[in-house]
Amino acid sequence: MCGIIGYIGKREAAPLLLEGLKRLEYRGYDSAGMALVHQGKLTAFRSEGKLSKLENKIGAKTPQGTIGIGHTRWATHGKPSEKNAHPHISKRVAIVHNGIIENYLELKKLLPHKGRELKSETDSEIVCHLMDAYVAKEENFLLALDQVLKCLEGTYALVIMDLKDPKHLYVAKKASPIVIGFGKHECFVASDIPAFLAHTNQITFLENDEIAVLSEESVDFYSKELKKIEKPIKEIAWTADMAEKGGYKHFMLKEIMEQPTAIRDTLLGRINKNKNQIHFPEIEKIFKGRFPNFNRFYMVACGTSWHAALAGRYYMEAIAKIPVSVDTASEFRYREPFIDKKTLLLVISQSGETADTLACVAMAREHGAKVISICNVIDSSIPRLSHATLYTNAGPEIGVASTKAFTTQLAVLLMLALSFGARKKSIDQRYLKKAIDGLSKLPRVMENLLKEKEKILKIAQKFVNSRDFYFIARGIHFPIALEGALKLKEISYVHAEGYAAGEMKHGPIALLEHNTPVVALAPKDRVCEKMISNIQEVKARGASVFIVASEGDKRFEKQNDEVFYVPDSLWYLTPLLISLPLQLLAYFVADLRGAEVDQPRNLAKSVTVE
Ligand code: M6R
Repeated sequence: MCGIIGYIGKREAAPLLLEGLKRLEYRGYDSAGMALVHQGKLTAFRSEGKLSKLENKIGAKTPQGTIGIGHTRWATHGKPSEKNAHPHISKRVAIVHNGIIENYLELKKLLPHKGRELKSETDSEIVCHLMDAYVAKEENFLLALDQVLKCLEGTYALVIMDLKDPKHLYVAKKASPIVIGFGKHECFVASDIPAFLAHTNQITFLENDEIAVLSEESVDFYSKELKKIEKPIKEIAWTADMAEKGGYKHFMLKEIMEQPTAIRDTLLGRINKNKNQIHFPEIEKIFKGRFPNFNRFYMVACGTSWHAALAGRYYMEAIAKIPVSVDTASEFRYREPFIDKKTLLLVISQSGETADTLACVAMAREHGAKVISICNVIDSSIPRLSHATLYTNAGPEIGVASTKAFTTQLAVLLMLALSFGARKKSIDQRYLKKAIDGLSKLPRVMENLLKEKEKILKIAQKFVNSRDFYFIARGIHFPIALEGALKLKEISYVHAEGYAAGEMKHGPIALLEHNTPVVALAPKDRVCEKMISNIQEVKARGASVFIVASEGDKRFEKQNDEVFYVPDSLWYLTPLLISLPLQLLAYFVADLRGAEVDQPRNLAKSVTVE
């Protein structure tokens, strides 16, 4: 959950580290720090709070050095404070760490105490002292690192600097993500690609138990047994601009507005109008033109991605006629689900690094299941462990609140259900043609809808001071209501709940007071009449309703309610459209309340710890 960066090359490291940390701040932002070596001397800065505080501390006098490491923290062990901020330093060694060292209390007992008193409350600092103790015995830094790694239980991405040898940076990984960037006469290492994307798009992800030793000109990779290994370098198609705000006040707003392009890119190469086909070459090696006879089909994810999975179930059942069970990864992994060789697991993850989702993939593979993932970050841990990955092509998503990742996940799930349906002949060519036409027009429809964002701003202004929000819907829009509520609560800190509209009178309706906002999703579909009754029920209890309805539906006129219309579409496209006003509502409420939209408190973009 923390962001780490390292640089070695010919340029001054400090500005590059700060720039990298800025791009990684979405991973954690309760404290930050950096350390550099120049002419044998170590300079280190650490500060509680956001990166700007670290920058203020550094001031105008940027420290010198062409090798350095930096860290932005999301606290697990030890509260956010300067003393708990990274890098941790022990005599000859400086480290930054992402992950959790589970046996740190036991390791503490192993430490020769004199001169090595722990200064922080973190689990990470122990690694630094151990390294220094081993290197004092071992002299060879790589061998010392190997010894230390053997002692560690838990998860880590570590970047380590030997203050006696400013020509190398050491990197080790277990479970927490770490990627190396290859520049000209320089190398980068970071928790995520955007950290160095402005300088290189040549990358290699480290696998579990591997070690990398970086120097200006090259990187040496080692296996667990300390054998030198070759690893391919990949070129990633993302550009530096993609990781910039591009004139928007927040990444979240930029990413909301990017959805038409993100959807277009996600459809690209997959829908073929001429052939009336939806094609995922990535999964052909598993499906070989058919939908094989899986006995069980699970979809598993966390947070927003889980909401996409819940919506995906409606697609799979209604279009492909395939039964599927959906679970949150944190529950699935401990539920002893039935998994064997005839099981298909479909996992969804924007980052491809979410610890619980990754654990489900590993568990499924151990039992011989086939795993397909829907991910956004190319070559991240989940794709690397899956049999096949369908990428969402949304580009880097920096805002902690997931937006374009969600709608592109829906688009992939819909296309997948259509392609399964076509294989199983549960849908005919006419159905497919209509769907392909609808999907092709979707980006333009979204573009037009987003032009109406000022209408949502006005609605946000009306409700900005409300304490509680309820989001209600039926059918496939129920998961969209859950997502609308999650968006609002995570960035504005307003209490918000999503409910299946039919469930309101089984309890939650008791919570309604005069003017409590209820966001009701009521597009023209086969449950719309029922939604209208549910809207009347909440209005009768004093709720102030905001209805999202289909254009041309006259039933909501003259009701004195707030109504936002989305184009009347095919039922399976409406969830993507309805998501837009809900994302905008959350965004505007949060911004009007002065919340830190892109970096909400207590959260981090990738949850790489359990
Ligand atoms: O990277 P993932 O899609 O696996 O992340 C899952 C959740 O952590 C993520 O969707 C989270 O709920 C977002 N903050 C929601 O906006």
